[in-house]
Amino acid sequence: MARAPVRVLVTGAAGQIGYALVPMIARGIMLGPDQPIILHMLDIEPAAEALKGVQMELIDAAFPLLKGVVATTDVVEACKRVNVAVMVGGFPCKEGMMRKDVLPKNVPIYRAHASALAEHAAPNCKVLVVTNPANTNAVIFKEFARSIPEKNITCLTRLDHNRTLSQIAERLNVHNSDVKNVIVWGNHSSTQYPDASHATITTTSGEKSARELIADQHWLHNEFITTVQQRGDVILKVRKLSSALSAASAACDHIRDWLHGTPKGTWVSMGVCSDGSYGIQPGLFYSFPVTCENEEWSIVQGLEIDEFSRLKMDATAQELIEEKSFAYSFINQE
Ligand code: NAD
Ligand code: LMR
Repeated sequence: MARAPVRVLVTGAAGQIGYALVPMIARGIMLGPDQPIILHMLDIEPAAEALKGVQMELIDAAFPLLKGVVATTDVVEACKRVNVAVMVGGFPCKEGMMRKDVLPKNVPIYRAHASALAEHAAPNCKVLVVTNPANTNAVIFKEFARSIPEKNITCLTRLDHNRTLSQIAERLNVHNSDVKNVIVWGNHSSTQYPDASHATITTTSGEKSARELIADQHWLHNEFITTVQQRGDVILKVRKLSSALSAASAACDHIRDWLHGTPKGTWVSMGVCSDGSYGIQPGLFYSFPVTCENEEWSIVQGLEIDEFSRLKMDATAQELIEEKSFAYSFINQE
């Protein structure tokens, strides 16, 4: 019997990430090659014509899996019965801005979207926050969507995770698929801590630790970390636009692994609501190593944390504590 279509909402669908993301979803990259999709696309009035153009292109592409498109500027219509919500809409960071500089503009947007999803989405709707500052927007989302379980709200740090895999692969001259179990801890910002302490490399003579193969500890503690931390800014400088295709691809990776499960023995990084694991303040949306099974994520427990990692993990947590309190100064005015 044919599967029922899954309704996937993309907010900010006329923007750059939206334009890269919707064809990936319609091609089955997010939910698999056998899963029919109904795409819900939301944007604002000034982008309504552009959104219509994206809808026309989706029709022209004749995607076999695409069973319908809702393209609208009406938040309630966009949110009705959606099973997966990818939250990309919002005010973008421009060159020279910090991700948290856009927080005051995104609080009212997230309030409207979260409230509509809480009321109109399908039960058990899964939410991925991409809009920056992604971790703190997830806090805002949770605040205004109290009926959506916190387990169903996540934010995107998979792009940072993928960047980390690629930096290690490049350094060792191996393919990124031979690298696994890197971790990105904390905030999707320049304080994030990309950590290769537990990473392994598949070689012809078996699994080896990345730390063992990369003799240069100085590189691992310095250039490697700053390269990943600053990658978004570098792309913004050279492209004059923030990363879009890699962000869209990472969003597909995130939802696919969440709903279909992580491969055995492998974890990925996801921004999730802290339960106090690894001493991180509960309630912060913090990027942890997670495994996924039966459409649920679980934080990988028991990893050894050395003194260097502890300092880096705490520094990025501190930034999130400050962002959260900054966000609440706006939430409390709403
Ligand atoms: P963009 O400006 O091209 O697109 C944003 C879209 O959101 C626009 O079409 C805009 O009209 C729309 N929008 C604005 N207000 C809205 C509202 N109230 N409701 C619905 N739509 C609304 O930006 P982009 O390059 O697509 O990036 C989107 C966001 O993703 C930014 O916040 C960016 O910083 C963030 N981002 C996050 C990551 C990550 O890894 N977490 C990576 C890249 C970009
Ligand atoms: C990225 O990491 O590429 C983006 O978060 C950059 C940005 O600020 O949109």
